[in-house]
This record gives sequence, C-alpha cells and structure tokens, in this order.
Amino acid sequence: MTGDTALPTGLPTPPTPATLPLTRSLALWQVAETLIPGGSQTNSKRPQAFAFGRYPIFAARAEGSRIWDVDGNEYVDFVNGLGPITLGYRHPAVDQAVRDQLEHGVIAGLLWPLEVEVARGLVEAIPCAEQARFFKGGGEATAAAARIARAATGRSVILNAGYRGWPDPWAAGRDAAVPAELERYVVSFPHGDLAQLEQLLDQHRGEVAAVFTDVRYDASCDAAYLRGAQELARAHGALLCFDEIVNGFRLARGGMQEHFGVTPDLACFAKGIANGLPLAAVVGRREVMAHAASSLISLTYGGEALSLAACRAVLDIYAANDVIGHLWRVGRRLMDGLNAAAAGAGVPFACVGYPPMSAMELRLPAEQVGPAWELFLAECALRGVLFRRGGLNMMTYSHQEADVDASVHAAAGAFDVLRRAGYSTEAVGGDGQSRGQQVGPWSSAQAAPVAAGTAVRP
Ligand SMILES: Cc1ncc(COP(=O)(O)O)c(C=O)c1O
Repeated sequence: MTGDTALPTGLPTPPTPATLPLTRSLALWQVAETLIPGGSQTNSKRPQAFAFGRYPIFAARAEGSRIWDVDGNEYVDFVNGLGPITLGYRHPAVDQAVRDQLEHGVIAGLLWPLEVEVARGLVEAIPCAEQARFFKGGGEATAAAARIARAATGRSVILNAGYRGWPDPWAAGRDAAVPAELERYVVSFPHGDLAQLEQLLDQHRGEVAAVFTDVRYDASCDAAYLRGAQELARAHGALLCFDEIVNGFRLARGGMQEHFGVTPDLACFAKGIANGLPLAAVVGRREVMAHAASSLISLTYGGEALSLAACRAVLDIYAANDVIGHLWRVGRRLMDGLNAAAAGAGVPFACVGYPPMSAMELRLPAEQVGPAWELFLAECALRGVLFRRGGLNMMTYSHQEADVDASVHAAAGAFDVLRRAGYSTEAVGGDGQSRGQQVGPWSSAQAAPVAAGTAVRP
C-alpha cells in the first residue's frame, strides 16, 4: 500500500502494515478526556494536533532516538518532547547523574552546592551570562525575565516577537480570561521587522523596559536583525532579552547569541539544558540580574536537585563532545533527504530553517494544509517515524545517520501517498501556505479518525 517512490538512501522497502494498531492509546485517551481538561497538559501534545486515530497518543517508554507507544509500536522520534531532549532519551550519563543525586535527596531547606556549580556552568557556557536564577518551565522563566527587566529599568512596557509561554504577561490579547488592560504592557511586533520595532520604541518612548525576541524557525531572521534590535533597544534605554528556550543547547550551546554573535542583556533557557528534566534559567548581566534579588521572584522548587544534577551532566557532555556539530550534521541530512524525497514524489513540501530544529512546510492552499498534514503524519507513523505538524524536527545526539535515512525512506512512502491523494505540486501549484501549526480547543468529537490511505483532498 505504500507505493514508495525512488528512495534517496537506496534502502530496501520494509513491509508496511495496513493500519497502525492503536487500541490502547485510543482507549486511554477516552478516559484522559474525562479526567484531564483537554486531555493533556500541553496544547501541542493533544492528539488532534497530529493525526487523531492514526498516530500514537500514549508513550510506554523511550530510549535514544526511539519511542514505543502503549500498543507496542516502535518509532524513530523527531518530536522529542517538543524540544527538551537534545542528547536522546535516557542518556546513560544523565540518568546516572539523576540516580546518584536521588541517593542524596531532591529538595531541602538548605541550599545544594549543585545550585552554585550549575550556575557557574551556565555562566561559562552562555555569552551573556554573569549570573543565573533557576526555574521549572520556560514560561515561568520568561515571565521572571520580564519582571527583572522592569525592575532594572523602572519601565513597564515590553516589546515582544514570538511565543513566550502561558503566563499572564504574554497571554493578554490571546486569552479572554486575562485582563485586557495588560495588553498595553506587552506589545507584539513581527520577527525581523526592525522598522516596526523602531516605530514602537518611538511610540512608547521612555516606557520600554525590554525587547524580547527569539529566532524565526524558517531562519529568515539573522544576525543583522538581532544586531539591529540590540542597537535600537540600547538607543532607547531598553534591555534586550533573547528567548533561547528552543535554540539553547541546539543552534549552539549558548543558543542564538553564540550562533549569531550578538550578546543580549538577559536570556531565558529551558528546553535542552537538562535533557528533559524540568529546569529553566534566566541568565544575564550582573547589574541587571541583581534586580532578581530585590523583587518577588521566589520559588520552592528552583533548587530541585535532580534537574540540576541532570544539567550538570549535560554541561559536561557538551563540553567533552561535539554535540552541536552532530545535531547540525544529522539535521542537515534529514532536511536534504526530506526535500529530495518530496521533490521526487512531486509534493509541494519544504523542510527549511536550522538543521538542529528544522521546520516543515506543506505549501498548499489553506484549506488543504490540515488534512494533508494529517495524512503525512499518519503515513509516517505507519512506517515507524514520528514527525510533528510543521516540525520542528528536534534532532538529538542519539540520532544516527541510519535513523535519518530510514526516516527519509518512510517519508518518501508518505509523500507518495500524498501525491496520489492529490497533494501534488502539479495539481495545486503551491501557494506558500503556513507550516500548518494548529492550536485550538480540540476534543475527539471534533476530529474524526480518517481511514488509512484515504484521499482527503476536498
Ligand atoms: C520560544 C519559547 N518560549 C517559551 C516557551 C514556553 O516554555 P514552557 O512550555 O516550558 O513554559 C516555549 C514553549 O514551547 C517556547 O517555544
């Protein structure tokens, strides 16, 4: 049923089951929806964000580049927890560090020496870091960074490009439950648009505490944008804060600031610093960070030792091995392979951006993007590979060339199904549509399973 196209890797075609057995996943999901609002803790992990009924929902275990679902199916994983796994699941040295710390304790009323050691490790690894404070999640860290920037400047407005997490400062205007008045204090601008940034700085002259930005995942923002943002922020007496939550320990150990050579005043790290354990950090210039001490930024679990032990192990592994070089190499191989396979099948697809975290685009008319993604994800899952709608393809130190080649092979089969379903370059012309990210109030009632191989093009 695969009808695989010519394969860039020349690997033999593996037998493909007609359908993916997902009985346990689907049964558990029915219960989850009754006990957990939305069924999941993370919007992007809701099964309707993938291919409901044709893509696994619950994991049983994971190791290296692989994950097994509760029905016993094995996959090469490019989702990797939405980014925190950079070394691969259950990296032996990280797991050992966690086990060792477990022998000593997790949380205490006294401080752990680890807090000092890991702060020193981050200061050595990250260009802008002279001091560090620890948090549990990325959104918590970005909210803390906003607070620190406001305290340091005595100003209240933040100019922001990109997603910063769920806390109130970032959700005003996006979530009806957040008081609308807060919208005035965080003003969004498009990534890369220095003219609009300048206009906003003029409009809010003397009020802007900081400019927050990350990279655009299609790599359309570059060093010139980051340098421009820095100059504009400085000229207006505002701080520059980089959100390195996804890029950190991925584009470069020190994130986009190291990769592009632009050093901000503050930065937030989370995914990647502890290979999946819940740890985030705000780092920055000493005189800016000093304001964290005098503001109400305090959390019981900031010094939780298992995550800190994992972070120390991660820092050691990155120092001793060319992890970043590996992520770029295998990531580039995946991008080239996917692009060649799609071109071979005649599907309007592009894998773009940064190899350690590449983004995927199905360049179809808007109404076709959702169903085409479902078909692609389902057909790849059927062939043993987990991708996420739009990417990002989160490469790890555990992904080997053979994993990548087998995954490209699987994707080639999926592209062939897409072409036969009518999603071909020839048929649609391609209008450069979105990466197909979807966030919304899903329930399984709204997302009926689609039969394997069904032509879903309207
Ligand atoms: C760039 C960026 N910043 C902040 C966050 C929020 O992090 P968390 O989900 O850990 O709160 C995310 C989450 O995906 C992110 O991608």
